[in-house]
Amino acid sequence: MTGTTASLLTIFGATGDLARRMLLPSLHGLERDGLLPSALRVLGTARSALDTDGFRALVAEAIEEQVPASERDPDALAALLQRIQYQPAALDDASSLASLCDTISRLRDGGDAVFHLSTAPRWYAPVCDALAAHGVAGPGTRVMLEKPLGHDLASATAINDGVARAFDEDRVFRVDHYLGKEGVQNLLALRFGNALFEPLWNARHVEQVQITVAETVGVEGRGDYYDESGASRDMLQNHLLQLLCLVAIEPPSQFEPTAVRNEKIKVLRSLRPIGREEVAAETVIGQYTAGAVGGLAVPGYLDELGRGSATATFVALRAQVDNWRWKGVPFYLRTGKRMPQRCTEIYLQFRAVPHSIFDHGGAPLQPNALVIRLQPEERIELRMMHKTPGLDRNGLQLSQVALDLDMQEQFASHRRRLAYERLYLDAIEGNGTLFVRRDETEAAWQWIDAIHEGWRQAGITPRPYPAGTWGPSRAVTLAERHGHAWRE
Ligand code: BG6
Repeated sequence: MTGTTASLLTIFGATGDLARRMLLPSLHGLERDGLLPSALRVLGTARSALDTDGFRALVAEAIEEQVPASERDPDALAALLQRIQYQPAALDDASSLASLCDTISRLRDGGDAVFHLSTAPRWYAPVCDALAAHGVAGPGTRVMLEKPLGHDLASATAINDGVARAFDEDRVFRVDHYLGKEGVQNLLALRFGNALFEPLWNARHVEQVQITVAETVGVEGRGDYYDESGASRDMLQNHLLQLLCLVAIEPPSQFEPTAVRNEKIKVLRSLRPIGREEVAAETVIGQYTAGAVGGLAVPGYLDELGRGSATATFVALRAQVDNWRWKGVPFYLRTGKRMPQRCTEIYLQFRAVPHSIFDHGGAPLQPNALVIRLQPEERIELRMMHKTPGLDRNGLQLSQVALDLDMQEQFASHRRRLAYERLYLDAIEGNGTLFVRRDETEAAWQWIDAIHEGWRQAGITPRPYPAGTWGPSRAVTLAERHGHAWRE
């Protein structure tokens, strides 16, 4: 834990899209459940020339739009609005930042403060410098940084160096909102809360791992940001690599920030580099063209963007974790926009039985598999062989069945929370376990940079795939070449 419970949360970029869709609804959820500290004040700031009443109206509107009616609570909304103030600030204007810092000091009133920077990352270092210059970045303050943290290792290092001038590393909370998701945290619970899996969780018993983050949406009016990033910077460098870390880590000694993050960084540093020589065989990139998703015709990426572009909206690759536990086990990762269905899933396929005693011409034995589905619904399936009922006059018949745990059903009385509810609460309380440490983000960039450089040197550009399909057909070959098939 870093510091004590905060008395002030300042959100930079408070009128932006992320604030409306996620941050403000999360605060409402926490308020409704009585989880916000009673003394907490929330200060919103952005360029928009609103006053506090205007901003409160925006908050109320965002909650009305984003929170399902069954979860809206007028008393909670009123209580939340009471906590909230707004002060406009132009981040490139020293005097408006100075006046904002005055307000921060006043509202903070000696308690801890959290600054959530939900702005373009180029502002992170200048804002942190301004907070430090005005004496509001000292002990008891923490900063939350949204992704993207740079677009490569050099730019990420520059941002991190800039932020470090004002905040020590243990007061920097880098957000990867996937870590705030219930299902993602459950990966740790599944692995380290059960004795059953650990003996099997290694190269001796696991044949392959697949991590899929498929989205049906396109770029949704975020074309300018997305076109600079593409699937590898937008999703792979952060969300998919974090999922890979949680699947692959050694047991941390405790569920606390240093122990968990020390194990994750070891995984990232064990990733075998994929560079110029390997990119053609080990990676596939694609860009969607017009097609149909869920029965609806949708335009291609270039039409949505309104100009030409060589940005990939799909990436698949075969990663290898070169350590004692995982040597030789392929980790197939893929993510894309405009896929046939929304699905975030981790699939572990175990090795086949060493010898089948049922070898009499029936259906072949299927290997055991564990499917951990994180989105759209949380579900865990253990796939195993089972005797098909019958007299078996021609030999025992087996079929694959699933032990199926539906979290929605199992925990029906528990509300599914937004990732930011957990992340805000942790940041307010100073618990960095579910945030990304500097060395993690830089190790991830180093690995991704080599891939980008490989694509550049090898002249690899995205292959088209129709919207509503699982990416270019080469993605299929990527796994098939090693005797594996993507789970669909
Ligand atoms: C964001 C990406 O980090 O994650 C978006 O920038 C993506 O492009 C989003 O759509 C996916 O998040 P979720 O929570 O909907 O899976």
